[in-house]
Amino acid sequence: MRPIDPSLVAPEAALPIRPGPPGTHITIRGLNKYFAGKPLYQNFDLDIPKGKIVSVFGPNGCGKSTLINMIAGLIPIDSGSILFDGKSRAQTKVGYVFQNYREALFPWQRTIDNIAYPLKLEGQSSAQVARRVAELVASFDVKFDLHRYPYELSGGQQQTASIMRALAPGPEVLFLDEPFSALDFEMTLFIREKLQEVFLQTATTMVLVSHDLEEAVYLADRVLLLTKRPTRVAEILSYDDPRPRTTDTLSAPSFIRTKAESLAIFQREVRR
Ligand SMILES: Nc1ncnc2c1ncn2[C@@H]1O[C@H](COP(=O)(O)OP(=O)(O)OP(=O)(O)O)[C@@H](O)[C@H]1O
Ligand SMILES: [Mg+2]
Repeated sequence: MRPIDPSLVAPEAALPIRPGPPGTHITIRGLNKYFAGKPLYQNFDLDIPKGKIVSVFGPNGCGKSTLINMIAGLIPIDSGSILFDGKSRAQTKVGYVFQNYREALFPWQRTIDNIAYPLKLEGQSSAQVARRVAELVASFDVKFDLHRYPYELSGGQQQTASIMRALAPGPEVLFLDEPFSALDFEMTLFIREKLQEVFLQTATTMVLVSHDLEEAVYLADRVLLLTKRPTRVAEILSYDDPRPRTTDTLSAPSFIRTKAESLAIFQREVRR
């Protein structure tokens, strides 16, 4: 088939949506969301880059969870458009890691069956499922017994399993809503590093909500700072220190600068 000559196509037909800059994965245009008659997002635009980790940070109740839930298709938008490489949500495979791992895993299934669940749902054969689970076990370096039920595992182990389940089908985008907030410090550090390792292996686009600014910056390629509601983008900061980032990163001047800049923007928005 011959390519269409762009000069023959009306601009609005050729470009129904203003595209993001090169490397954009998710384009959000004219998004509106109201709760109880009050605007949360009004005519909201955002570009999320592909193969990067975007940390979402902002005041309490500004709509961080609602934003990722709308993008992930867990809650409806009132109007506007959200596209993934030009595709709809229905045509896109996504993974989601919930804050509350206790409610996320099915208690009646062994942990390994929880992880395998989305693969079985896709109709994969037992052999394919076993192969994929083995890959995940290797990449997460799992040391605990996956044949136990979730309630027999520690919080960190359960959240590890939740992340494995979310990644099992190879999602294009992984959403994480405060995935560390119910974990103790040691587990937080452990899973943070696992997440970074997986990102280095797979370059999966990740959108991470975090209420811990240090963590948000540490993991991020971009820090998305939101205002109070009605919510707008306050600023998007780039943070480009090489990976893997380590504890040394925390004292790198670029890290300290990005964190201070994020904090200043956050405080400006909270006081506004
Ligand atoms: N189902 C709902 N019905 C009515 N209001 C809602 C609903 N869900 C969220 N809201 C309101 O929308 C706003 C944004 O909520 P959301 O949970 O997205 O914020 P958040 O930034 O994730 O907050 P937090 O920092 O507490 O996690 C809040 O004011 C909240 O009360
Ligand atoms: Mg939230």
